[in-house]
Amino acid sequence: MGNEASTPVSEDVPPITLTARTVEAVADYIKKNNVKRIVVMTGAGISTSAGIPDFRSPNTGLYANLARLNLPYAEAVFDISYFRNNPRPFYELAHELYPGKYRPTVTHSFISLLNKKGMLLKAFTQNIDCLEREAGVPGDKLVEAHGSFATQRCIDCGTEFPDDRMKDTVAIKEIPYCERTRCEGLVKPDIVFFGEALPESFHRSRSLPASADLAIVMGTSLTVQPFASLPSFVREETPRILINLERVGGLGSRADDVLLLEDCDSGVRKLADALGWRDELEELWETTNPSRSERKKQEAKPKDKQADLDARIEELTRGVDKTLKLSEDHQRQFEKDFAKRPDTGKLDVPAGLAKSVTAAEHKKQSEGEVNDRKSNGSDLSHIYPHLDSKSVDKPSL
Ligand code: APR
Repeated sequence: MGNEASTPVSEDVPPITLTARTVEAVADYIKKNNVKRIVVMTGAGISTSAGIPDFRSPNTGLYANLARLNLPYAEAVFDISYFRNNPRPFYELAHELYPGKYRPTVTHSFISLLNKKGMLLKAFTQNIDCLEREAGVPGDKLVEAHGSFATQRCIDCGTEFPDDRMKDTVAIKEIPYCERTRCEGLVKPDIVFFGEALPESFHRSRSLPASADLAIVMGTSLTVQPFASLPSFVREETPRILINLERVGGLGSRADDVLLLEDCDSGVRKLADALGWRDELEELWETTNPSRSERKKQEAKPKDKQADLDARIEELTRGVDKTLKLSEDHQRQFEKDFAKRPDTGKLDVPAGLAKSVTAAEHKKQSEGEVNDRKSNGSDLSHIYPHLDSKSVDKPSL
């Protein structure tokens, strides 16, 4: 249940199902066994080449960059109690991240190609950018575990808010309020915030990995429960392939785990080559191309892409910083209230975290993240003030 061995399987342990722990062997297995029940599990890493920053990459990640702003902690932007008091930072981000500005990546198109071939059992995503839908993955094959921008409602009375009004309001960086008379509560997209439950669709589908004949995990740090437990629900003898810049979760600890520790777009192209699907994949991805010039941008040399991503994250944080400055007094008022918040003993968990994560686990997890950052110089101790004595005066969870 979620906690797998973190030690990689040793070289001399042969695979049970695959002929080897390689991409070619996975392609062979797919073709020879008429594999039709593939589960895909993804995170923010599959959208970075579209220009959307991920959360935890040390320098370009959203949290590392929001950390320098005077938020109580970076994830406050997705915290329901913070949002109630100061929705501005979230709507500054929403303006940048709102669907319609970004093109699906070739990784999104690979997932759509699996569906077209009748081989996709379910695509579980933590992303809120709706790029899987834009790449052609149908709603019944998709579980948006942390919600998405697709719909929105009043956080007080639950009344749905019209899509077109939402789009227009976010476009001009306004804050939408409920249109029901005598309510006027804050409107929020159906994204899972800190302290909110995951959608029913996630709980209904979480038994599917146990009946899959292949699992593909891409672009996620697997740090947020309950999503992070999904790969461990796959049967022992079912092959799992991780396509990610770094090894994460318990992937690599089983005899039929394959690790492709690289950029996911190049990883899915390697798998497509081995399957003989490369032309089909590129053609399908081409259909998502809004314009030729856009294609040039997407295919920019990695260093340009990195520079482009850095510039975007800079612009994003400047915007949030500006709104935070505007609401400085708002902030002081909120921090006063926040500090007075009754200690319910309940852990407010980051968007997507299950209620079941204990305070100790969360602290350990946060320590792990803080230590990672300390080691590479982007110390985020003020994100996790409880870990850092210096910041005892800051509100902490
Ligand atoms: N190719 C492959 N892997 C990548 C790429 C890429 N181009 N870019 C980033 N990665 C990897 C990173 O190395 C990291 O392991 O993807 C992972 C991204 O991890 P996170 O930033 O933590 O994103 P994610 O796993 O989606 O976060 C989960 O945390 O804050 C919450 O609700 C939020 O859904 C989010 C959840």
